[in-house]
Amino acid sequence: MPRFALLFTALFLFIAAVSAQAPPPQRPTTATVIPVEAAKQPNPVKATPESLERGKKWWNMDCATCHGKTGDGKGETAVDTKLTIPDFTDPAALKDRTDGELFYIIKNGHQAMPAEGQRIKTEEGWDLVNYVRSLVKTKAPAEQKPQTEQK
Ligand code: HEC
Repeated sequence: MPRFALLFTALFLFIAAVSAQAPPPQRPTTATVIPVEAAKQPNPVKATPESLERGKKWWNMDCATCHGKTGDGKGETAVDTKLTIPDFTDPAALKDRTDGELFYIIKNGHQAMPAEGQRIKTEEGWDLVNYVRSLVKTKAPAEQKPQTEQK
């Protein structure tokens, strides 16, 4: 019998030691939660050709390296560092995002997405939102049916 007791004690100690190694606490990542107020903020900059042109300049300088020139998410840096980036040419990619959310992400970053922060002026941030929205590839003209307006 004492043998069993010893065995049980050993087993108990073993289990105790294993379960004591609790998983390390999750490292907090920056700005993964977008404040509701920021998400609701309307875009004050109209997507005029001028705004898109300004957005494009920043895009090619600061964003295309990861997001790709066309916005397909396959820029050099993204491929090299194996980042998973949504394909902005796909209409589904950003359909659930508000302009306010996109602006917030551009300005503050989001997980692996770096923040533009002070480098861009507020208005330039909205230009970028407009430009990001313009990257969506619509279907071939034949597939595009005029949308029936619903009142
Ligand atoms: C270092 C690579 C990198 C650069 C440079 C970069 N991004 Fe990103 N971006 C990412 C990654 C990775 C994600 C996905 C983040 C996530 O999982 O939340 C992302 C996400 C986004 C999103 C949100 C997409 C979504 O579905 O929520 C927007 C908008 C965006 N980027 C715009 C930009 C703009 C505009 C620039 C240039 C000012 C830029 N990014 C520069 C890597 C980058």
